[in-house]
This record gives sequence, C-alpha cells and structure tokens, in this order.
Amino acid sequence: MPSYMEVATEIAREAGALLLNYLEKRPAWEIKGEQDLVTEADRASEALVVSRLHQYFPAHSVVAEEGSGEDRKSEFCWYVDPLDGTTNFAHSYPAFCVSIGLLQGDEIIAGVVFDPNRNELFSAEKGAGAYLNNRRIRVSKTADLCESLLATGFPSRKRHEDVNVYFFHQLGVRAHGIRRSGSAAIDLASVASGRLDGFWEFGLNPWDVAAGLLLVTEAGGSYSDMRGGKFALTSPHLIADNSLLHNEFVARVGDVFNGTIHVPIPGLTPGAPVRY
Ligand code: IPD
Ligand code: CA
Ligand code: CA
Repeated sequence: MPSYMEVATEIAREAGALLLNYLEKRPAWEIKGEQDLVTEADRASEALVVSRLHQYFPAHSVVAEEGSGEDRKSEFCWYVDPLDGTTNFAHSYPAFCVSIGLLQGDEIIAGVVFDPNRNELFSAEKGAGAYLNNRRIRVSKTADLCESLLATGFPSRKRHEDVNVYFFHQLGVRAHGIRRSGSAAIDLASVASGRLDGFWEFGLNPWDVAAGLLLVTEAGGSYSDMRGGKFALTSPHLIADNSLLHNEFVARVGDVFNGTIHVPIPGLTPGAPVRY
C-alpha cells in the first residue's frame, strides 16, 4: 500500500495536468458568493481529487473547497484545494497549484502542493522533512525583517472591509519587498523552500493552508495567528515564517493591530489631486 504522501502526490500530479489542459481552453469564469471566481476547471479538478481519494481511502473524510467532499466521521480528514489561485488561472496568469493536506485528529500528517506550471511538487510527511521534487528543502536563514522577502494575499471576499493594506504598508517599508502571488499554498511552499522568509494573510480557509503549513514546519519554519497565538485551521489570520523572524514579525504586525504606525501612509485629500 503506498503511503498517504505517495497517494496525494500521484493525485496532485493528475489534477495539475488536468488544470494545464483546461488552461489552454481558457475556460469561462463565474462568480460564486460575494466576489470569488470559479471555473469549470476548479470543479473538474475537485471531482478528480475527491473520487481518487475516496477510491484509495473509502472510510476517510474529505473537505474540498467546491463542496463535493464528504464527512465520513473518520479521524482522517483530507483538505483539498483543487485549484489554489483561481483568479490567476482565470486570467491565464501562470501561478496556481493543487493543494492536498491530511489531518489525523488535529494534527496535519501529510501535505502536497503541486505547481504544474513549474512542475514543482512540494511534499511533506509529519516527522520526515519537506521535499521539492524529492530534494530536501529548508526555510531561509534570514534573521532580520529588514533583510526579508515577504508575501501576503488579499482575499476577494469582503474586500471593502479588508484592513491588510495597513499591514502591507508597515511591513513593506521595512522588508526588502512584499510579493503577492495569488496562491496562498504556493506562498507557504515558498516559505518552506526558502524563497520567501515569511507570509501573512487574513481570512484563509483550511484547504488553502493545510498542506502548506506542514511543509513550513517540516522545513524548520513556524506559524501562529497574526497576534502570536496558536493557529487553528479556522483562525482568522496567519503568519508563517522561517522561525528566526517569528518574534520580530509578530511584534511589527502587533504594532499595526495596536495602532502604532511607524510610517504613516501618505495622506490623500478626497477630491484633491494625488501628490507624489
Ligand atoms: C485564494 C488564493 C489567494 C488568497 C485567497 C484565497 P483560491 O484561493 O489562495 O492567494 O489570497 O485568500 O482564497 O480562491 O484561488 O482557491
Ligand atoms: Ca485557495
Ligand atoms: Ca480554490
């Protein structure tokens, strides 16, 4: 019997190939919920992943973003994002992936993130390290936020209520730079592989992060909620980093929560021209 990780790897590769096929056809997008895009490719990828997981593990529960998973009351639960980065995908911007994570009870025990555009397969099993295409990966050694490359994301839901621009500004004036890939799972895989030093975001869902968080910890990184408390898959915000930066990252984010603004965003007067 293949391991959980081997099964997840095989399925993620199949789903990734399916996404690339759909990409060439430029499938139409639709709006789901408030302002979230979804395409036929999201649903087809999810149908593939969920049915293959049920074939291998008929007793396991599956939670999948587009709603086709089933709660089979198992201690094993797979969290599936069949296409993380749908907005990118819908615009043919090549930054998206398939993310599959497995929890046993509260613990993430296996995770795979597959980026079909780069043919990069990130995988981890609890206690066995994190890998990129079978090569061991580790988080970066950057110890100072001033020397870091960070990433964040802006969920499409409730964007008029999104306060993340304040965090973006305060961290952006400190770090070497801030990236916004449009795929939280790729961002977490990038922290795990040392390409990014840290990542934060509000309002993620369990399927966005289950696999990526295991990649980060198995590569030597850490995560918490943005106030430094324990992160649960349903927490409203997340910080993940290379461990070395964690305290400083949480402290600077805490400044913004507390209203201690080190560098104010240049003011705009409504109705007046923008000065620069
Ligand atoms: C989204 C991506 C994006 C993040 C959003 C997620 P989706 O997932 O991960 O980077 O900023 O919060 O919802 O909708 O493309 O699967
Ligand atoms: Ca997602
Ligand atoms: Ca998705």
